[in-house]
Amino acid sequence: MNAPAKSSTDSPTSLLFSDLKLRDVEVKNRVVISPMQQYASDQSGEPQRWHLDHLGRLAQGGAGLVFTEVAAVNQDGRNTHFDVGLWSDAQTDNWARLADAINSGGSVAGVQIGHCGRKASIQTPWAGFGPLGPADAARGEAPWQVVGPSPIASNPGWPVPAELTIDQIETLIDEFGQAARRAAQAGFQALNIHGAHGYLIHSFLSPISNQRQDAYGGDRSGRIRFALKVAQAVRANWPGHLPIFFRISAIDGLDGGWEIDDSIALAIELKKAGVDVMDCSSGGLTARTTTAATPRPEGYQVPLAAAVRAGADIKTMAVGLIRRPSYAESVVCENSADLVAIGRESLNNPFWPLHAAVELLGDAGYACWPHRYGWWLERRASQLRLNEASNA
Ligand SMILES: Cc1cc2nc3c(=O)[nH]c(=O)nc-3n(C[C@H](O)[C@H](O)[C@H](O)COP(=O)(O)O)c2cc1C
Repeated sequence: MNAPAKSSTDSPTSLLFSDLKLRDVEVKNRVVISPMQQYASDQSGEPQRWHLDHLGRLAQGGAGLVFTEVAAVNQDGRNTHFDVGLWSDAQTDNWARLADAINSGGSVAGVQIGHCGRKASIQTPWAGFGPLGPADAARGEAPWQVVGPSPIASNPGWPVPAELTIDQIETLIDEFGQAARRAAQAGFQALNIHGAHGYLIHSFLSPISNQRQDAYGGDRSGRIRFALKVAQAVRANWPGHLPIFFRISAIDGLDGGWEIDDSIALAIELKKAGVDVMDCSSGGLTARTTTAATPRPEGYQVPLAAAVRAGADIKTMAVGLIRRPSYAESVVCENSADLVAIGRESLNNPFWPLHAAVELLGDAGYACWPHRYGWWLERRASQLRLNEASNA
């Protein structure tokens, strides 16, 4: 148990609300806002006013680090016509505004980059969430050719990806590096490579989706080559003093798929390539998992983060149905992960980290709040206690 030091006054302490240094970046606490696509761009791929308000608000909500949604490294790597991207230098100004909004809110600004691979060219959730087709084309959202390591569709009825050539793979590796360079220019201080959820990198890792026989397929060392080269290209284009996260689906959860031992082996190699934190999600190679109507326990992916942390001696981030502050605290105290990512619960309550601080630290937690709010709320809390005592 990695308990925080007890204070001399015996007031509550919290490891979740202690700082963490990642390379030269000081993160004020271990709560991270998980990347969440908003499908709110305007086909330019640039972040819009919505992104500034949404992520600025989440930063004000007290997380140590706020990740943007995944930014496509090229136009074909988008999920939908409304995804954000970092495929052009012309896009950088609005990304700089977004990084500034997150920093102004008090969080470290993080960006996620990726390519949706064979899961590109889909409808927005509210338009069906399936592959784009002729009806979508008629209303201005034409489908485009999806790509992958092998010509295997992600789901029955979904488009068959065009098998990438070696030249195309090398171009993609370079595009990941260029997107990282733009993100650094825009002022982001942490970067997350999306290697999960059935997107392009994941589809290279899994033997189910990668049936190539060349250097990028075959045994595990071939299937992880694309991920490693992407990490190396990103590291070469991303400042040495800033951290890199790498999100994986630590298990496919499918017969004959990617397993936890594979993730540990990958993490060992990614660490050598300059990755600092393994962000451990799972599944999604075929069906979508976040919206699956499957019963799932609290923190269902935490054991995966714990296994990668122990097996590869690397920092990890846990994600997935982490909602109770005391549970989030236990995840870091029990050495399962160094950081805890909050996704949908932050949509439910953008101030989740601030409320968690008060729940774990008592009135001292109000010090985590923007003082323009916290000063009042701490005094109100005393008043409310007096009211309760006088009513008792
Ligand atoms: C609206 C929405 C968009 C998402 N977009 C991304 C994304 O861009 N990149 C990513 O890695 N995961 C994405 N995810 C997955 C979340 O980051 C997170 O892993 C998942 O929601 C489970 O965590 P939770 O139970 O705290 O929500 C998304 C999830 C949601 C709900």
